[in-house]
This record gives sequence, structure tokens and C-alpha cells, in this order.
Amino acid sequence: MKKVTIKSAQEIEKMRVAGRLASEVLDYITSFVKPGITTEELDTLCHNYMVDVQKTIPAPLNYAPSGHKPYPKSICTSVNNQICHGIPSAKQLKNGDILNIDITVISDGYHGDTSRMFYVGEPSIQARRLCEITYEAMWRGIEVVKPGNHLGDIGHVIQKLAESVGYSVVREFCGHGIGEKFHEDPQVLHYGKPGTGLELKPGMTFTIEPMINAGKAAIRHLPDGWTVTTKDNSLSAQWEHTVLVTDDSYEVLTVSSGAPPKPVVYRF
Ligand code: MF3
Ligand code: CO
Ligand code: CO
Repeated sequence: MKKVTIKSAQEIEKMRVAGRLASEVLDYITSFVKPGITTEELDTLCHNYMVDVQKTIPAPLNYAPSGHKPYPKSICTSVNNQICHGIPSAKQLKNGDILNIDITVISDGYHGDTSRMFYVGEPSIQARRLCEITYEAMWRGIEVVKPGNHLGDIGHVIQKLAESVGYSVVREFCGHGIGEKFHEDPQVLHYGKPGTGLELKPGMTFTIEPMINAGKAAIRHLPDGWTVTTKDNSLSAQWEHTVLVTDDSYEVLTVSSGAPPKPVVYRF
């Protein structure tokens, strides 16, 4: 049974605030991402910013969906071949690493969920290309969000771009409805067929968060119970926004002054 919630005007206003705050954590942490810093230090900085400055709650901390032990940190940091849910650790970042930082805050009972890719120093040409194409893939998905379109339309445009350049879309994780709950219905797959799946209606809020591998789609779970990597150890990238279906199109809720702009032209 799918229970997709339609948010009221009051709820949407709270989602806007939560989305902006989540994005502002990424703005805040950006200047700290440099060779030599550890992902644990990034976690502590973000945690303190959320709790002490924003007065938000870091949703990942102790999050324990069924089948998982409680997540031990306040942010997810996924480096290089790590796809998602990387646990911040004492390992230092080094020049050339690419890193996804995924932030989810709870503000006034509502969630905002967003992630970006970061370059540690200078990335390789291949790493930069993967991050840029994944960013475009997310935005192509966002731009087909409007009432009357279907979830399959989102997945289709993301899959089409990724596979046209020889990349692959991770199947095991997807975007999700979001609101009072971190993960609600519907599931937002990042692959699919046009015109299939749930029809979009005004007031729905969900994330679009494609995970794209430079190599094959297969994944591996690390023994820490959370971190997911590519099976072939190829690089992986991910970007995430929380979006609202409006009366005639979409509104990105996870925006702030430091959020990279929507592509002016699609390059790939
Ligand atoms: N923020 C992730 C998402 O986009 C979920 C992280 S769950 C955690 O859905 F427990 F790993 F934090
Ligand atoms: Co999410
Ligand atoms: Co997220």
C-alpha cells in the first residue's frame, strides 16, 4: 500500500525552511573540505553547526531503519568508490579524492535532505566528468517534475543520460518521499520508463538523488553495516535535492546561497 502524503501550505512552508537549512549546512562545510581533514572532523563541524547554530536535529544520528544498526554519525561522507552512507572516520582526505556529503536536518518536525559532491584539491578529469554528469542527471530528473508526469519519467531521463556516456545507475537505493518522516512513500527510482509509475500531484515532496557509477552498477556492503561501495571499485557520484510538486511544475526546497545553480545549458 502506497501512502503518499500531500503536504498542506503550512507543511510546505516548514519543508522550505528545513530544506534551506540542510543546504546551508553544505554551504558552511564547503571551505573545510581540503586535503588532510578527516571525515570525522567534517562530521563534528556539521553536527555542532546543526545543533548549536541552527538548532536543527541531524536526522542520520542513531537513525535505525529495520535491518540496520543505528547510524553512528550526524552526516554521511562517501569517498571515491563509496556510493552512499559512508560513515565519517579518522581517515584523512587526500588531494584528488571526490566526496559526497549528505545532510538531513529536522526543523520544526520536518526533514530537509540534500547532498553535493566535493573535490578535495584537484580532481582527475574522469572524476570531474563523473561528478558533472551526475549533477546534470539529477537536474534532468528535477526538470520533468510536474503534475501529470510520472515517476518513471524522472528515472528515465536520469538513466538515459548516465548510460549514454557509459556509466551505470545504482538500483538498490532510490529517492524517497520526505516530510515528517525521513523516508516515506513513494520510492523514486533513478531508472525507468516514461509514463510509468505514480502520477505526480501538487503537494508531493520527495528527493531525487541519483547514484551513478563510472563502472558497473553492482554494489558491495562494507562490514560496518552502512557503507555501500561499488563492487568493481570504480568511482561513484551522487547529488540530492528535496523537491516539491507545484501546481504547474516543481520547486527545489533544498536551496541556499551556496547551492550550485541549475545548469544553464545541458552539456552532455
Ligand atoms: N540522507 C540519506 C538519503 O538521502 C539517508 C542516510 S540514512 C543514514 O536518503 F542513516 F545513513 F544516515
Ligand atoms: Co534522501
Ligand atoms: Co540524503
